[in-house]
Amino acid sequence: MQNPFVYGEVVPGESFVDREVELDRLIGDLAAGQKVFLISPRRYGKSSLIRQALNALSRRGVLTLDITVSSYSSYLSFLEGYARALAAVETRSERARGWLTKVIQSTRPEVRYDSGAAGPGRFSVAFPLVRNERDVNRLANEVFTLPGRLAAEQKRSMVVALDEFQAIDGFNGGSVEHALRAAAQQQRQVGYVFAGSEPSLMEKMIGPRRPFYKAGPVMRLQKIPADVFAAFIESKFGRSGIRAEVGLGAAIVDLAGNLPYDVQRLAHETWDDVRSAGGRRATLDALHTTLARLLAEQEPIFEAVWQRLTLAQRAVFRAVVLENGHGLLSADVRARYRLGGPSSIQTSLSALLKQDLVLKEGNQYVVVDSLLREWIARRTF
Ligand SMILES: Nc1ncnc2c1ncn2[C@@H]1O[C@H](COP(=O)(O)OP(=O)(O)OP(=O)(O)O)[C@@H](O)[C@H]1O
Ligand SMILES: [Mg+2]
Repeated sequence: MQNPFVYGEVVPGESFVDREVELDRLIGDLAAGQKVFLISPRRYGKSSLIRQALNALSRRGVLTLDITVSSYSSYLSFLEGYARALAAVETRSERARGWLTKVIQSTRPEVRYDSGAAGPGRFSVAFPLVRNERDVNRLANEVFTLPGRLAAEQKRSMVVALDEFQAIDGFNGGSVEHALRAAAQQQRQVGYVFAGSEPSLMEKMIGPRRPFYKAGPVMRLQKIPADVFAAFIESKFGRSGIRAEVGLGAAIVDLAGNLPYDVQRLAHETWDDVRSAGGRRATLDALHTTLARLLAEQEPIFEAVWQRLTLAQRAVFRAVVLENGHGLLSADVRARYRLGGPSSIQTSLSALLKQDLVLKEGNQYVVVDSLLREWIARRTF
Protein backbone atom coordinates (compact mmCIF):
# COMPACT_ATOMS: atom_id res chain seq x y z
CA MET A 1 0.00 0.00 0.00
CA GLN A 2 1.38 3.36 -1.04
CA ASN A 3 0.92 6.63 0.75
CA PRO A 4 -1.44 8.61 -1.50
CA PHE A 5 -0.32 12.01 -0.19
CA VAL A 6 2.67 13.85 -1.61
CA TYR A 7 4.47 16.91 -0.37
CA GLY A 8 7.78 18.61 -0.98
CA GLU A 9 7.76 17.94 -4.68
CA VAL A 10 5.63 18.63 -7.69
CA VAL A 11 2.45 16.59 -7.18
CA PRO A 12 1.71 13.82 -9.65
CA GLY A 13 -1.61 13.91 -11.48
CA GLU A 14 -3.40 11.52 -9.14
CA SER A 15 -2.65 13.66 -6.08
CA PHE A 16 -3.49 16.91 -7.81
CA VAL A 17 -6.69 18.53 -6.51
CA ASP A 18 -9.01 21.08 -8.05
CA ARG A 19 -7.43 23.98 -10.01
CA GLU A 20 -9.59 23.15 -13.01
CA VAL A 21 -10.36 26.75 -13.83
CA GLU A 22 -6.75 27.86 -13.38
CA LEU A 23 -5.47 24.93 -15.40
CA ASP A 24 -7.84 25.60 -18.29
CA ARG A 25 -6.90 29.21 -18.34
CA LEU A 26 -3.19 28.57 -18.16
CA ILE A 27 -3.31 25.96 -20.91
CA GLY A 28 -5.44 28.20 -23.10
CA ASP A 29 -3.23 31.25 -22.64
CA LEU A 30 -0.01 29.34 -23.22
CA ALA A 31 -1.36 27.58 -26.29
CA ALA A 32 -2.23 31.01 -27.64
CA GLY A 33 1.38 32.13 -27.20
CA GLN A 34 0.68 34.48 -24.30
CA LYS A 35 3.28 35.56 -21.78
CA VAL A 36 1.68 34.66 -18.44
CA PHE A 37 2.77 35.76 -14.99
CA LEU A 38 1.87 33.25 -12.27
CA ILE A 39 2.23 34.60 -8.76
CA SER A 40 1.55 33.20 -5.30
CA PRO A 41 3.21 32.83 -1.93
CA ARG A 42 5.45 29.82 -1.47
CA ARG A 43 3.99 26.33 -1.58
CA TYR A 44 0.62 27.15 -3.01
CA GLY A 45 1.13 24.85 -5.96
CA LYS A 46 2.57 26.91 -8.83
CA SER A 47 5.10 24.34 -9.97
CA SER A 48 2.52 21.56 -9.76
CA LEU A 49 0.04 23.59 -11.79
CA ILE A 50 2.71 24.32 -14.40
CA ARG A 51 3.61 20.64 -14.62
CA GLN A 52 -0.01 19.72 -15.25
CA ALA A 53 -0.32 22.39 -17.92
CA LEU A 54 2.90 21.38 -19.68
CA ASN A 55 1.91 17.72 -19.63
CA ALA A 56 -1.41 18.55 -21.23
CA LEU A 57 0.22 20.78 -23.84
CA SER A 58 2.86 18.22 -24.63
CA ARG A 59 0.13 15.62 -25.24
CA ARG A 60 -1.22 18.02 -27.84
CA GLY A 61 2.13 18.10 -29.60
CA VAL A 62 3.42 21.38 -28.18
CA LEU A 63 7.15 21.53 -27.39
CA THR A 64 7.62 22.27 -23.70
CA LEU A 65 10.47 23.36 -21.49
CA ASP A 66 10.58 23.87 -17.75
CA ILE A 67 13.48 25.73 -16.11
CA THR A 68 13.93 26.71 -12.47
CA VAL A 69 15.71 30.04 -12.61
CA SER A 70 16.71 30.04 -8.95
CA SER A 71 18.83 26.93 -9.32
CA TYR A 72 21.51 28.82 -11.26
CA SER A 73 24.28 30.64 -9.45
CA SER A 74 24.95 33.29 -12.08
CA TYR A 75 23.51 34.86 -15.19
CA LEU A 76 25.99 32.99 -17.37
CA SER A 77 25.23 29.60 -15.82
CA PHE A 78 21.52 30.32 -16.32
CA LEU A 79 22.17 31.05 -20.01
CA GLU A 80 24.17 27.84 -20.29
CA GLY A 81 21.42 25.81 -18.65
CA TYR A 82 18.74 27.45 -20.75
CA ALA A 83 20.65 26.88 -23.99
CA ARG A 84 21.27 23.28 -23.02
CA ALA A 85 17.63 22.64 -22.21
CA LEU A 86 16.53 24.22 -25.49
CA ALA A 87 19.04 22.26 -27.51
CA ALA A 88 17.83 19.10 -25.80
CA VAL A 89 14.20 19.65 -26.80
CA GLU A 90 13.54 17.50 -29.79
CA THR A 91 17.10 17.87 -30.98
CA ARG A 92 19.13 14.72 -30.66
CA SER A 93 22.28 15.32 -28.71
CA GLU A 94 24.59 14.74 -31.68
CA ARG A 95 22.89 17.62 -33.43
CA ALA A 96 22.94 19.98 -30.49
CA ARG A 97 26.45 21.25 -31.13
CA GLY A 98 25.71 22.00 -34.76
CA TRP A 99 22.46 23.71 -33.93
CA LEU A 100 23.90 25.89 -31.19
CA THR A 101 26.99 26.81 -33.18
CA LYS A 102 24.78 27.85 -36.05
CA VAL A 103 22.51 30.11 -34.03
CA ILE A 104 24.91 31.48 -31.43
CA GLN A 105 27.21 33.85 -33.29
CA SER A 106 28.63 36.04 -30.55
CA THR A 107 30.71 33.29 -28.99
CA ARG A 108 31.63 29.65 -29.48
CA PRO A 109 29.48 27.20 -27.53
CA GLU A 110 31.20 24.20 -26.06
CA VAL A 111 29.00 21.13 -26.05
CA ARG A 112 30.25 18.23 -23.97
CA TYR A 113 28.87 14.75 -23.94
CA ASP A 114 28.77 12.91 -20.70
CA SER A 115 29.63 9.41 -21.81
CA GLY A 116 29.24 7.98 -18.31
CA ALA A 117 25.63 9.03 -17.98
CA ALA A 118 22.93 6.45 -18.44
CA GLY A 119 20.79 6.82 -21.50
CA PRO A 120 21.26 9.00 -24.55
CA GLY A 121 21.13 12.76 -24.73
CA ARG A 122 23.10 13.81 -21.67
CA PHE A 123 25.26 16.73 -22.59
CA SER A 124 26.21 20.08 -21.19
CA VAL A 125 26.63 23.46 -22.78
CA ALA A 126 29.21 26.06 -21.76
CA PHE A 127 30.34 29.39 -23.12
CA PRO A 128 33.96 29.48 -21.95
CA LEU A 129 34.93 32.51 -24.04
CA VAL A 130 32.40 34.79 -22.42
CA ARG A 131 34.37 37.05 -20.11
CA ASN A 132 32.66 40.28 -19.28
CA GLU A 133 29.25 41.76 -18.83
CA ARG A 134 29.10 42.95 -22.40
CA ASP A 135 29.75 39.43 -23.69
CA VAL A 136 27.07 38.07 -21.41
CA ASN A 137 24.54 40.58 -22.63
CA ARG A 138 25.26 39.84 -26.27
CA LEU A 139 25.01 36.15 -25.61
CA ALA A 140 21.75 36.60 -23.71
CA ASN A 141 20.18 38.35 -26.67
CA GLU A 142 20.94 35.33 -28.79
CA VAL A 143 19.99 32.68 -26.27
CA PHE A 144 16.62 34.33 -25.72
CA THR A 145 15.79 34.00 -29.42
CA LEU A 146 16.27 30.22 -29.30
CA PRO A 147 12.69 29.23 -28.39
CA GLY A 148 11.35 31.15 -31.38
CA ARG A 149 13.85 29.54 -33.73
CA LEU A 150 13.16 26.09 -32.38
CA ALA A 151 9.41 26.53 -32.81
CA ALA A 152 9.90 27.77 -36.37
CA GLU A 153 12.29 24.98 -37.33
CA GLN A 154 10.12 22.27 -35.87
CA LYS A 155 6.94 23.93 -37.17
CA ARG A 156 5.36 23.44 -33.76
CA SER A 157 4.22 25.73 -30.99
CA MET A 158 6.35 25.91 -27.95
CA VAL A 159 5.84 26.72 -24.27
CA VAL A 160 8.60 27.80 -21.91
CA ALA A 161 8.11 27.81 -18.14
CA LEU A 162 10.56 29.88 -16.11
CA ASP A 163 9.88 28.92 -12.50
CA GLU A 164 11.18 30.89 -9.50
CA PHE A 165 11.45 33.73 -11.95
CA GLN A 166 11.97 36.35 -9.25
CA ALA A 167 15.55 35.05 -9.02
CA ILE A 168 16.28 36.73 -12.34
CA ASP A 169 16.33 39.99 -10.44
CA GLY A 170 19.55 38.93 -8.75
CA PHE A 171 21.41 38.21 -11.99
CA ASN A 172 21.85 41.49 -13.68
CA GLY A 173 19.27 43.99 -12.58
CA GLY A 174 17.07 45.33 -15.33
CA SER A 175 18.98 44.23 -18.38
CA VAL A 176 17.89 40.57 -18.20
CA GLU A 177 14.28 41.61 -18.00
CA HIS A 178 14.68 43.91 -20.99
CA ALA A 179 16.40 41.33 -23.13
CA LEU A 180 13.95 38.58 -22.26
CA ARG A 181 10.90 40.74 -22.73
CA ALA A 182 12.13 42.04 -26.07
CA ALA A 183 12.86 38.53 -27.33
CA ALA A 184 9.67 36.94 -25.99
CA GLN A 185 7.54 39.64 -27.56
CA GLN A 186 8.76 38.66 -31.01
CA GLN A 187 7.89 35.01 -30.52
CA ARG A 188 4.23 34.63 -31.36
CA GLN A 189 4.45 30.85 -31.47
CA VAL A 190 5.95 30.60 -28.02
CA GLY A 191 3.95 30.82 -24.81
CA TYR A 192 5.80 31.73 -21.65
CA VAL A 193 4.89 31.32 -18.03
CA PHE A 194 6.95 33.27 -15.54
CA ALA A 195 6.18 31.89 -12.10
CA GLY A 196 7.34 33.40 -8.85
CA SER A 197 6.89 32.76 -5.18
CA GLU A 198 7.86 36.10 -3.78
CA PRO A 199 4.75 38.06 -4.49
CA SER A 200 6.24 41.44 -3.64
CA LEU A 201 9.20 40.98 -5.97
CA MET A 202 7.01 39.63 -8.72
CA GLU A 203 4.48 42.44 -8.36
CA LYS A 204 7.32 44.94 -8.69
CA MET A 205 8.50 43.19 -11.82
CA ILE A 206 5.17 43.68 -13.54
CA GLY A 207 4.75 47.23 -12.27
CA PRO A 208 4.93 50.38 -14.39
CA ARG A 209 8.35 51.35 -15.79
CA ARG A 210 9.51 47.75 -15.76
CA PRO A 211 10.01 45.74 -18.97
CA PHE A 212 7.28 43.21 -18.17
CA TYR A 213 4.64 45.82 -17.46
CA LYS A 214 1.49 44.68 -19.27
CA ALA A 215 3.44 41.97 -21.09
CA GLY A 216 0.59 39.50 -20.63
CA PRO A 217 -2.06 38.10 -18.31
CA VAL A 218 -1.32 37.85 -14.60
CA MET A 219 -2.62 34.86 -12.62
CA ARG A 220 -2.58 35.10 -8.86
CA LEU A 221 -2.94 31.61 -7.50
CA GLN A 222 -5.24 31.34 -4.47
CA LYS A 223 -5.70 28.53 -2.02
CA ILE A 224 -7.69 25.45 -2.96
CA PRO A 225 -11.28 25.63 -1.63
CA ALA A 226 -11.17 24.09 1.86
CA ASP A 227 -14.18 21.80 1.38
CA VAL A 228 -12.82 20.42 -1.90
CA PHE A 229 -9.46 19.70 -0.31
CA ALA A 230 -11.05 18.11 2.77
CA ALA A 231 -13.26 15.83 0.68
CA PHE A 232 -10.28 14.83 -1.46
CA ILE A 233 -8.30 13.82 1.64
CA GLU A 234 -11.04 11.67 3.09
CA SER A 235 -11.64 9.92 -0.20
CA LYS A 236 -7.90 9.27 -0.71
CA PHE A 237 -7.70 7.74 2.76
CA GLY A 238 -10.68 5.56 1.97
CA ARG A 239 -9.36 4.37 -1.36
CA SER A 240 -5.99 3.48 0.13
CA GLY A 241 -7.64 1.14 2.63
CA ILE A 242 -7.66 3.40 5.70
CA ARG A 243 -11.04 4.79 6.61
CA ALA A 244 -10.99 8.42 7.72
CA GLU A 245 -13.16 9.51 10.63
CA VAL A 246 -15.75 12.00 9.47
CA GLY A 247 -14.31 15.49 9.82
CA LEU A 248 -10.68 14.40 9.53
CA GLY A 249 -10.27 16.11 6.16
CA ALA A 250 -11.64 19.38 7.49
CA ALA A 251 -9.47 19.14 10.61
CA ILE A 252 -6.33 18.62 8.54
CA VAL A 253 -7.13 21.49 6.21
CA ASP A 254 -7.88 23.74 9.16
CA LEU A 255 -4.77 22.80 11.10
CA ALA A 256 -2.68 23.33 7.96
CA GLY A 257 -4.11 26.79 7.43
CA ASN A 258 -5.22 25.35 4.07
CA LEU A 259 -1.72 25.73 2.70
CA PRO A 260 -1.52 22.96 0.08
CA TYR A 261 1.92 21.83 1.17
CA ASP A 262 0.98 21.67 4.84
CA VAL A 263 -2.29 19.90 4.10
CA GLN A 264 -0.51 17.18 2.16
CA ARG A 265 2.21 16.93 4.80
CA LEU A 266 -0.23 16.38 7.67
CA ALA A 267 -2.27 13.91 5.64
CA HIS A 268 0.85 12.03 4.53
CA GLU A 269 2.32 11.79 8.01
CA THR A 270 -0.96 10.79 9.61
CA TRP A 271 -1.44 8.11 6.99
CA ASP A 272 2.07 6.80 7.70
CA ASP A 273 1.53 6.67 11.45
CA VAL A 274 -1.81 4.89 11.19
CA ARG A 275 -0.41 2.46 8.68
CA SER A 276 2.71 1.59 10.66
CA ALA A 277 0.59 1.00 13.75
CA GLY A 278 -1.36 -1.50 11.65
CA GLY A 279 -4.56 0.58 11.97
CA ARG A 280 -7.40 0.70 9.49
CA ARG A 281 -9.01 3.91 10.71
CA ALA A 282 -7.59 7.44 10.75
CA THR A 283 -9.16 9.31 13.63
CA LEU A 284 -8.86 12.86 14.93
CA ASP A 285 -6.86 11.43 17.81
CA ALA A 286 -4.44 9.90 15.34
CA LEU A 287 -4.07 13.29 13.68
CA HIS A 288 -3.15 14.86 17.00
CA THR A 289 -0.66 12.14 17.81
CA THR A 290 1.00 12.75 14.46
CA LEU A 291 0.99 16.48 15.04
CA ALA A 292 2.74 15.98 18.39
CA ARG A 293 5.38 13.83 16.72
CA LEU A 294 6.01 16.39 13.99
CA LEU A 295 6.30 19.21 16.51
CA ALA A 296 8.84 17.21 18.53
CA GLU A 297 10.85 16.48 15.40
CA GLN A 298 10.90 20.09 14.33
CA GLU A 299 11.63 21.45 17.78
CA PRO A 300 15.34 22.22 17.15
CA ILE A 301 14.52 24.14 13.99
CA PHE A 302 11.73 26.12 15.63
CA GLU A 303 13.95 26.85 18.64
CA ALA A 304 16.57 28.28 16.32
CA VAL A 305 14.02 30.43 14.51
CA TRP A 306 12.71 31.71 17.83
CA GLN A 307 16.21 32.48 19.15
CA ARG A 308 17.00 34.60 16.12
CA LEU A 309 14.08 36.94 16.77
CA THR A 310 14.30 40.05 18.91
CA LEU A 311 12.11 40.20 22.01
CA ALA A 312 9.79 42.68 20.30
CA GLN A 313 9.44 40.36 17.30
CA ARG A 314 8.70 37.37 19.54
CA ALA A 315 5.92 39.24 21.29
CA VAL A 316 4.36 40.30 18.02
CA PHE A 317 4.75 36.80 16.58
CA ARG A 318 2.91 35.33 19.58
CA ALA A 319 0.16 37.86 19.17
CA VAL A 320 -0.19 36.93 15.49
CA VAL A 321 -0.55 33.28 16.47
CA LEU A 322 -2.91 33.70 19.40
CA GLU A 323 -5.06 36.43 17.85
CA ASN A 324 -5.15 34.63 14.52
CA GLY A 325 -3.53 37.59 12.85
CA HIS A 326 -6.31 40.08 13.49
CA GLY A 327 -6.43 43.46 15.22
CA LEU A 328 -2.78 43.58 16.19
CA LEU A 329 -2.74 47.34 16.49
CA SER A 330 -5.79 47.57 18.74
CA ALA A 331 -5.26 48.94 22.25
CA ASP A 332 -6.64 45.74 23.71
CA VAL A 333 -4.24 43.42 21.91
CA ARG A 334 -1.32 45.74 22.51
CA ALA A 335 -1.97 45.73 26.22
CA ARG A 336 -2.57 41.99 26.45
CA TYR A 337 0.71 41.08 24.76
CA ARG A 338 2.70 44.12 25.96
CA LEU A 339 3.48 45.09 22.41
CA GLY A 340 4.44 48.74 22.67
CA GLY A 341 3.43 51.37 20.16
CA PRO A 342 1.98 50.85 16.69
CA SER A 343 5.17 51.85 14.90
CA SER A 344 7.29 49.31 16.75
CA ILE A 345 4.66 46.65 16.02
CA GLN A 346 4.86 47.58 12.34
CA THR A 347 8.63 47.26 12.43
CA SER A 348 8.39 43.79 13.94
CA LEU A 349 5.73 42.73 11.45
CA SER A 350 7.89 43.91 8.56
CA ALA A 351 10.79 41.88 9.91
CA LEU A 352 8.58 38.78 10.21
CA LEU A 353 7.23 39.29 6.70
CA LYS A 354 10.71 39.74 5.32
CA GLN A 355 11.90 36.54 6.95
CA ASP A 356 9.03 34.71 5.33
CA LEU A 357 7.63 33.71 8.72
CA VAL A 358 4.29 35.43 8.27
CA LEU A 359 2.44 36.66 5.26
CA LYS A 360 -0.45 39.00 4.75
CA GLU A 361 -3.77 37.81 3.41
CA GLY A 362 -5.96 40.87 3.09
CA ASN A 363 -6.01 42.39 6.56
CA GLN A 364 -4.94 39.24 8.30
CA TYR A 365 -1.42 38.16 9.18
CA VAL A 366 -0.92 34.43 8.74
CA VAL A 367 1.93 32.25 9.97
CA VAL A 368 3.42 30.61 6.89
CA ASP A 369 4.36 27.30 8.51
CA SER A 370 1.41 25.82 10.34
CA LEU A 371 3.66 23.58 12.47
CA LEU A 372 5.61 26.60 13.64
CA ARG A 373 2.31 28.25 14.49
CA GLU A 374 1.29 25.29 16.65
CA TRP A 375 4.70 25.18 18.28
CA ILE A 376 4.54 28.86 19.23
CA ALA A 377 1.05 28.42 20.61
CA ARG A 378 2.11 25.49 22.78
CA ARG A 379 5.73 26.11 23.68
CA THR A 380 6.29 29.84 24.04
CA PHE A 381 5.06 32.21 26.70
N1 LIG B 1 -3.33 21.13 -6.81
C1 LIG B 1 -2.79 20.52 -5.75
N2 LIG B 1 -3.37 19.44 -5.19
C2 LIG B 1 -2.85 18.83 -4.12
N3 LIG B 1 -1.74 19.21 -3.52
C3 LIG B 1 -1.09 20.27 -3.99
C4 LIG B 1 -1.58 20.97 -5.14
N4 LIG B 1 -0.74 21.97 -5.40
C5 LIG B 1 0.23 21.90 -4.47
N5 LIG B 1 0.02 20.89 -3.62
C6 LIG B 1 0.87 20.52 -2.46
O1 LIG B 1 1.74 21.60 -2.17
C7 LIG B 1 3.11 21.23 -2.35
C8 LIG B 1 3.85 22.36 -3.00
O2 LIG B 1 3.45 22.46 -4.35
P1 LIG B 1 4.35 23.18 -5.44
O3 LIG B 1 5.76 22.78 -5.26
O4 LIG B 1 3.68 22.95 -6.74
O5 LIG B 1 4.13 24.69 -4.98
P2 LIG B 1 4.94 25.99 -5.38
O6 LIG B 1 3.95 27.11 -5.30
O7 LIG B 1 5.65 25.78 -6.65
O8 LIG B 1 5.96 26.06 -4.18
P3 LIG B 1 7.34 26.85 -4.09
O9 LIG B 1 6.97 28.26 -3.87
O10 LIG B 1 8.02 26.25 -2.88
O11 LIG B 1 8.07 26.62 -5.37
C9 LIG B 1 3.08 19.96 -3.17
O12 LIG B 1 4.19 19.14 -2.88
C10 LIG B 1 1.80 19.33 -2.70
O13 LIG B 1 2.00 18.67 -1.49
MG1 LIG C 1 7.64 25.89 -7.12
